[in-house]
Parts: sequence; structure tokens; C-alpha cells
Amino acid sequence: MSAVIDTEALRAQPELTGENVVLTQLDETYFEPAWQAVHEPEGTRFTGTHATFTEEQIRTWLSSRPGLDDRADYAILRKDDRVYLGDVVLNDVDADNRSASFRIALTGPDVFGKGYGTEATKLILDFAFDVVGLHRVSLEVFDFNPRAQRVYEKSGFVREGLQRDALWWDGEWHDAISMAILETDPRP
Ligand SMILES: CC(C)(COP(=O)(O)OP(=O)(O)OC[C@H]1O[C@@H](n2cnc3c(N)ncnc32)[C@H](O)[C@@H]1OP(=O)(O)O)[C@@H](O)C(=O)NCCC(=O)NCCS
Repeated sequence: MSAVIDTEALRAQPELTGENVVLTQLDETYFEPAWQAVHEPEGTRFTGTHATFTEEQIRTWLSSRPGLDDRADYAILRKDDRVYLGDVVLNDVDADNRSASFRIALTGPDVFGKGYGTEATKLILDFAFDVVGLHRVSLEVFDFNPRAQRVYEKSGFVREGLQRDALWWDGEWHDAISMAILETDPRP
């Protein structure tokens, strides 16, 4: 018998509310801050993004996010004023194995280190396991990103392996650490 996930929940992407952040459907409403974030050097380095994007590509990407039932693209908003803080995504959803990949990026250093990333991670993992019915969520994080590693560890992700020399950046090779969390793992 094949495993079952709630693809309707992925399509509908209900708003997820935490103490200081709200996750809501990512769409073209957030073009301006998302476009600025594309050019933010810290974010580009930490996500290992070599590609460059045109305005048109970003608009098309954002406007095509709603209604998909094989992934969830959430905008992270500050709860008080609904200012856009970044995005958090479940992608590569494999319905047969109830698994997905995870990624997150806040817009820049002015919003790093305030707890927003930890809260957004918790909200989307609760959605992934308790609502969608996924069994496994995995990610990769570069060796030069201890802040992200800390957030993932305290969210319940477990280190599973190391991909040596996975990224060439600024004239040096960097390793990528593989991490994952299962529905049965402790979540704070
Ligand atoms: C990674 C990211 C999502 C984390 O979100 P955040 O809101 O900045 O992080 P938080 O404030 O929730 O938590 C940061 C934690 O890391 C710790 N930390 C910060 N710098 C650290 C460092 N150099 N070494 C170890 N821990 C560090 C903080 O102390 C805090 O842990 P604590 O609550 O136990 O004290 C965010 O910084 C980001 O988007 N960065 C740029 C893009 C990126 O790196 N994406 C991830 C790619 S894998």
C-alpha cells in the first residue's frame, strides 16, 4: 500500500501563526522585498546561489507559487506589521516516501539573529508532519553557516552526513552537511 500525504493541504497552504511570525502563501505581493533579497550578499553566500535572476524571472516565480500541490512556498511575515522577512519552503515532495526537502532564507542581516528563523522552521515542520503527513524532511547546510546549523539542531534536525567539496565559493571548496528530521524525532 502506498503512503498517503495530504496534497490538498499543500495546495491550500493555510496561514500558520506563531508568537512573532506568520507564514502565509508566497506570491507576487512580495516582489519588492524578495527582489532586494536576491541581491543581498550574505543570503546569496549562505544559500550558495551562483545563478543571477532577472526581475521578470522573480515575478514569474512568485506568481506561479500559489495552488501547487507538490510543494509549499511560504512567505515569513513579522506578526506585528506583516513586514516580509524571507521565505521558507518544502519542496521535492515525494508522496510515495512521504518525504520533502526544506530551505529557508531571511532577507538580510538586519533580521538575522532575532529568533524569526527558528520560529518559522518550527511552524513549517509542524505543518509538514502534523498536517501534510510527511515522514521525513531533509536539508543541506554549508560548513561556513554555524547559525543555520544551530537553528536546525535546535529544531530537531539530525546530522546524517557530509558532502565533501560540494560548493565552490570565493576560490575555495566547502562541504555541505546533510541533516534530516523524521516525524518520530523529538521536536521542541
Ligand atoms: C539561517 C537563518 C534562517 C536563521 O534564522 P535566524 O532568525 O537568523 O536565527 P535565530 O535567531 O532563530 O537563531 C540563531 C541561533 O544561532 C545561534 N548562532 C548565531 N550565530 C552563531 C554562530 N556563529 N555559531 C553558532 N551559533 C550561532 C544563535 O545564538 C541562536 O541560537 P540560540 O537561540 O540557541 O542562542 C537566517 O539567519 C538566514 O536566513 N540566513 C541567511 C540564509 C541562510 O543561511 N539560509 C540557510 C541556508 S542552509
